[in-house]
Amino acid sequence: MAIEKIKAVKGTCDILPGEVELWQRIEEVVRERTEIYGYSEIRTPIFEDTSLFARSIGEDTDIVGKEMYTFHDLGNRSLTLRPEGTASVIRAFIEHSLDQKGLPQKLWYCGPMFRQERPQKGRQRQFHQFGVEVVGSKSPLVDAEVMILFDDIAKKLGIDDRVYLVNSVGGAESRRRYKVALVDFLTGVEEQLCDDCKRRMVTNPLRVLDCKVPGCRTVIHDSDSMPRTVEYLMDDDCSDYEEVKRCLITSGIEFKEDFSLVRGLDYYTGTVFEMQCKGLGAQSAIMGGGRYDNLLKDLGGPDLSSVGFACGIERLILAMEFSGTSSIGKKPVSVFIATNQTEYRIAAMNYLSVLRNLGYVSEMDYLDRSMKAQMKTADRLQSRYVLIIESSDDRITVRDMSHSEQKTMTFEQFLKTICSEI
Ligand code: HAM
Repeated sequence: MAIEKIKAVKGTCDILPGEVELWQRIEEVVRERTEIYGYSEIRTPIFEDTSLFARSIGEDTDIVGKEMYTFHDLGNRSLTLRPEGTASVIRAFIEHSLDQKGLPQKLWYCGPMFRQERPQKGRQRQFHQFGVEVVGSKSPLVDAEVMILFDDIAKKLGIDDRVYLVNSVGGAESRRRYKVALVDFLTGVEEQLCDDCKRRMVTNPLRVLDCKVPGCRTVIHDSDSMPRTVEYLMDDDCSDYEEVKRCLITSGIEFKEDFSLVRGLDYYTGTVFEMQCKGLGAQSAIMGGGRYDNLLKDLGGPDLSSVGFACGIERLILAMEFSGTSSIGKKPVSVFIATNQTEYRIAAMNYLSVLRNLGYVSEMDYLDRSMKAQMKTADRLQSRYVLIIESSDDRITVRDMSHSEQKTMTFEQFLKTICSEI
């Protein structure tokens, strides 16, 4: 009977050799740019108390209502695999009193997140985000800074076709005024909405705007009478939003206003934004974020304002593929050592140690292959030089693979003359 093979769980992906190099390159650029902008890395656990996400992201959101991986452990605690990073970072900030270390605290993070969504291109159940959270400043300049930082990262990774969508949902009073107008509008189209939206109209009307049901999207987003958030902003919210836009213009950041953008999480209280790029299929947002001034207080922490964003790395890669900047190969081998005599293999291992200690990518054959097959392997690994050991004296044949030339010399001479020039 054939043994059944176990496959990766639906919505999860392996990142294989040959692909992982691109992930490393992205992580390198993220680490380098965030540090240049003064951010420090924070790492939080992959699972948290379920109530953390319910209280921060909001009970009425798709994420909390439909998409979380929640389970009970042996102690009957309700735990959830993190669906995003913001709630965990803020929980850690409060728990470790990071405000005592000076404000604002500028933090960045990177890692796997989990949402039980219907998998499709750019949408997985385990996906990866990097993000930043700045805690302790109300300044709209910080909203602009996080957007400039992500734009910088996207540019460094070669994503040319990118544009921000921006909006402001405003503070509590602005949102209260907007909700009145929104409910008024939704009441007029109620019959055409899905059951979830009918319920949300009462419990949390802003969430109707990010419903994914196509019928609801058409009714809501294609209507000229849909109220625009910015028309209901209080003076302070309005002037902050104007300042963010001025900063973006001054910094040459391309953006469009989208007055129906409210984002699918409850904690936002001001500027909200997403970046759209080509090549993502139906999932056009490569990243999203915004200002959230009440989350720390709502989670029992100090009254500090915050702003941040998160980018989905799988979607970033799709955008890089579209821009033609995603091909990063494995490092080629500098030196391959070939020998078909068992007794010379120990010498080969010693040469490998010397070369590797000097920092050269070096390889040899471990499958007892013929000399011809070893030369083929060296070629496949794009080796720059092959050292052939054919005698017990210390002379070796050095083959320059790019010119198909070969010379005989000692290993010491090779190190001094040829290797030092690679
Ligand atoms: P979000 O919009 O839910 O925001 O997610 C941010 C990004 O994560 C999305 O733009 C997308 O690139 C990626 N993403 C989300 N779900 C999936 C999925 N199922 N598969 C692949 N990629 C996905 C947040 O998570 C907020 N925490 C952002 C934030 C930080 N706001 C303030 N600070």
